[in-house]
Amino acid sequence: MSQQTPPETAPSGAGRGLFVAFEGGDGAGKSTQARLLGEWLSEQGREVVHTREPGGTTLGRTLRELVLHGEDGSVSPRAEALIFAADRAHHVATLVRPALARGAVVLTDRYLDSSVAYQGAARELGHEEVRDLSLWAVERLLPDLTVLLDVPTREGRARRGDVHDRLEREADDFHDRVRRGFLDLAARDPDRYLVLDATRPADELTAAVRARLGSLDAHPGGTSGVAGAGR
Ligand code: TYD
Repeated sequence: MSQQTPPETAPSGAGRGLFVAFEGGDGAGKSTQARLLGEWLSEQGREVVHTREPGGTTLGRTLRELVLHGEDGSVSPRAEALIFAADRAHHVATLVRPALARGAVVLTDRYLDSSVAYQGAARELGHEEVRDLSLWAVERLLPDLTVLLDVPTREGRARRGDVHDRLEREADDFHDRVRRGFLDLAARDPDRYLVLDATRPADELTAAVRARLGSLDAHPGGTSGVAGAGR
């Protein structure tokens, strides 16, 4: 697989760069996959920016602390959705868009779909409402590709070991709704997603992501980086 050519240009609506989001439940292995893909792209001479939500910026790190590390019940569901959206707005405006504009590959550990799955589906605030809030926050910037690492709830819990943040402490039925929320998003827009069984070996997952990026390069008109008005 290492022979594969990475994309030279991207269909992102935000410049010449390439925007890839890694999504999935807690314990799915997103950061490992982002790191492995980033290493491969760097070897090919691409500028790679690794980032995450919440907490990719200085403001974001403060928001992350507020939203994840309070006591249970310390943040109301709508406040939670707004804090994640505020983190995302600042992240996109100050880090993601500038990096894409100069041609970098941006690999983010979580993006807008996490809000739809956790706040929209699991907190039951509504898929459309939460998605619209985030789309407004980011001026409709969508990833060129979203890699969804799908992991069964019990497996995710076992992998992440000692639970430590407010969301991770939620019960299994919450995490089941998160998982269904992600799968539902991917089913609505298959061109923009790569859904992988996260229980497969890490090197197989990496190979699948590389292959998909290669095909994205081959069909650069296939996706757009900006959500259409009707979605
Ligand atoms: P993450 O950084 O992946 O956790 P960790 O550092 O433990 O790997 O994500 C933090 C938590 O925030 C995770 O439980 C998912 C949650 N989250 C939301 O609920 N909504 C969002 O929009 C985002 C970005 C994250």
